[in-house]
Amino acid sequence: MSFKLDRVIPWGRCLDEYIKMFGLTATELDLAILDCAGGPASFNAEMTQQGNKVISCDPVYQFTAAEIGDRIQATYQTVLDGVKATLDDFVWTDIKSPEHLGEVRMGAMQKFLVDFPSGVQDGRYITAELPVLPFPDCKFDLALCSHFLFTYSHLLSEEFHLNSILEMSRIAREVRIFPLLQSFSSEVSDRLSPTVKELEARGFFVEIKEVAYEFQKGGNKMLKISRKN
Ligand SMILES: C[S@@+](CC[C@H](N)C(=O)[O-])C[C@H]1O[C@@H](n2cnc3c(N)ncnc32)[C@H](O)[C@@H]1O
Repeated sequence: MSFKLDRVIPWGRCLDEYIKMFGLTATELDLAILDCAGGPASFNAEMTQQGNKVISCDPVYQFTAAEIGDRIQATYQTVLDGVKATLDDFVWTDIKSPEHLGEVRMGAMQKFLVDFPSGVQDGRYITAELPVLPFPDCKFDLALCSHFLFTYSHLLSEEFHLNSILEMSRIAREVRIFPLLQSFSSEVSDRLSPTVKELEARGFFVEIKEVAYEFQKGGNKMLKISRKN
């Protein structure tokens, strides 16, 4: 099935949020990082500006900045209205209000849109789709995946989750996934427990770690996966 832009709701987070979601230390920012399902996040743009090395991959990168920008404009108000209708599902401390959320997200997505054309030329934004990624074994130190696996549990099977994590573990020494809740709710994804069990059975070291970021209520944990040897 082909990937259609009119089915995507682009919504991107910034570097400061990535640092908190994934508990990234100053030393870890210097590693070779893959942002998998990076979408219109400004992580790559901001990291590149600081001299760090990030490659992002996402099927949405097959479109132009103008096409992605138009889709952001077309869906932005719907997303904000959805948040306003479910205010109690979120923690309004760092992000103070739906209006503030809109400013933070739009700021991040604008930075992404400005960076995207040169990033494509430099090979920093790659069109690719889990569960198969076009990178050699062990290319990265760290693969991050924010708001895709577990978040879209209702659309993505257990097998898809497992194969995607195995693929990220093939190309990176360590994989981190955030959050562990499903469908933008406060409920832990049904996919989590069977996925952890299967990864452990296959000899991976798997850890659920609390982080200093909570916007969805209860969404303050990430999954860390690494090989035991
Ligand atoms: C909610 S966005 C998250 C963007 C970014 N990681 C962040 O947290 O700001 C989810 C992203 O998953 C991407 N996506 C959809 N199917 C995918 C797949 N099979 N493999 C990788 N990314 C996919 C979408 O294009 C979208 O950009």
